[in-house]
Amino acid sequence: MNQDMIVDHFYNIAYLNNVPVSVVIELSTRCNLRCEHCYLPNYHQSGMNTEKMRSLLTELRELGVVNVSFTGGEILLREDLFELIKIARNLHLRVFLLSNGTLLNQNKVERLAKLYISEFSTTMFSTQCEIHDSITTSKGSLDRLKQNLQMLKENNIRVQIKMPIMEFNSLCVDEVREYCEVNNFKFFASPMIYSKLDGNESPKCLRVHDNKLGTVVKKIDEMNNRKNKLIHETEVPCGALFYSFSIDSEGNVFPCNAFPYKVGSVFENTISDIWNHSESLKYIKSIKKSDLKHCPSCEFQSECERCPGMALLDKGDIFECDTFARSIAKLRVRNYCSNEM
Ligand SMILES: C[S@@+](CC[C@H](N)C(=O)[O-])C[C@H]1O[C@@H](n2cnc3c(N)ncnc32)[C@H](O)[C@@H]1O
Ligand code: SF4
Ligand code: SF4
Repeated sequence: MNQDMIVDHFYNIAYLNNVPVSVVIELSTRCNLRCEHCYLPNYHQSGMNTEKMRSLLTELRELGVVNVSFTGGEILLREDLFELIKIARNLHLRVFLLSNGTLLNQNKVERLAKLYISEFSTTMFSTQCEIHDSITTSKGSLDRLKQNLQMLKENNIRVQIKMPIMEFNSLCVDEVREYCEVNNFKFFASPMIYSKLDGNESPKCLRVHDNKLGTVVKKIDEMNNRKNKLIHETEVPCGALFYSFSIDSEGNVFPCNAFPYKVGSVFENTISDIWNHSESLKYIKSIKKSDLKHCPSCEFQSECERCPGMALLDKGDIFECDTFARSIAKLRVRNYCSNEM
């Protein structure tokens, strides 16, 4: 069994037992960059304070959580970041960091290595400064990122590079993938660009145009080897809802950080109460694929990676079609299914 299969197996067990093993916590929405596609509606929430975070992490551990991801905004703008990582590590939580990677230095990287974080996940749009920096709207951001990535590598910290693919960087997938291969970094690319969490649709204009989308989808499918679907992905609209959730910088709880449907607040209820008794979470989890408006009879269903959060953002309705997933599924059916029959 390779590592990916072990991880899939672990999440399948968590799904079947309804144990929230992974949680994403937004530490703040403050950020030193202003990426063009960013889904955040604002950059001024400074997040829950250290003591609230301490009690939250303790509660999460008691509930069965093993993986905690800290995201932002830019997490390195939090002065207590290392303290929070230390609290989590002392609770034997695995810590994943999501950062734009521009604010590290030698000292910080060494501290992260000593805390044995599980992964540093960051974002690269291109290996060319003109393209990367124009998306982050910050000159020098790619150079700083690359320099810091080398420090992470020298300190044996596992790195994941995410690449949101938009029209502007759609020809850069191979170069970022090669950069990752050379440096032994994990690579994940996706053309899924969604609206801001407050419903503002401006990021959608940046999506890959229709005439290039087929080539992009084919490329990422080849890279991912068109992975077999997990058991749970065949039964409910999104299996992740049964083993993970997310908390924003104001303490609001959501089924996922790309699913703006509030199911509770950590300032009003315990996490255990929210996970086990929230009526709105129960409602979301009760939805079956067969309840969706158009999916059961849809000709593209076998190739569709519909996301309920995207459908909600796209149409304001969890039961509706996710139209961007539809465009991609249609291309997949055209690309592969006729050859397979
Ligand atoms: C919000 S950021 C937080 C972590 C960090 N600031 C970063 O940029 O990597 C998490 C990830 O979401 C991606 N992202 C932001 N807005 C997005 C959108 N509208 N659609 C899809 N991905 C988006 C970012 O590019 C990044 O890879
Ligand atoms: S670095 Fe991340 S949080 Fe900051 S603007 Fe870019 S996508 Fe948004
Ligand atoms: S294309 Fe739309 S209707 Fe068809 S399976 Fe995907 S989300 Fe459902």
